Amino acid sequence: MTYKTWEELEQACSDCTKCKLSEHRRNVVIGVGNRNANVMFIGEGPGADEDIQGEPFVGRAGKLMDMALNGLGIKREELYIANIVKCRPPGNRNPEPDEVSSCIEYLKSQIELVDPKIIVLLGSVALKAILGQEYGITASRGKWIEKDGRMYIPTFHPAALLRDEDKKIDFWSDMKSIQS
Ligand code: URA
Repeated sequence: MTYKTWEELEQACSDCTKCKLSEHRRNVVIGVGNRNANVMFIGEGPGADEDIQGEPFVGRAGKLMDMALNGLGIKREELYIANIVKCRPPGNRNPEPDEVSSCIEYLKSQIELVDPKIIVLLGSVALKAILGQEYGITASRGKWIEKDGRMYIPTFHPAALLRDEDKKIDFWSDMKSIQS
């Protein structure tokens, strides 16, 4: 199903019980930011803070992403930010294939509605769900990929930088390439 208006999309997400993630959510985390953005960021799924606040990337990983955006002189409000799944997976596990396939139509409608020129794919879950299972984050990060008239750039998920500081250098270089 394709949602042609934000109102339809928001209603469908708020009412959604298509997968088991809906059972324990506090909020459906639909997305945030400029609905006419040139650049869209796509993460994996809400964590605990996002589930409570109803907004993507407001926790520790989000703070790290905000720092990188600050360094680039990009305001968070200029972007549109969303996730592959809109309800928090328990214990922050990766979303399961049936959860991704239930939820992805919402994100696809968001992409059509925002119509960004550039999509930044944060981490392996976003990369595989959007571009295909054959892609791997280590080999694909920092490489521009064109698909259906849109430009995609995969990079590490900010949470991966919290676990492995060495990834920050590549993440920063990928983020800088958004500007040029
Ligand atoms: N990690 C994600 O992938 N998305 C969020 O919104 C927060 C953390």
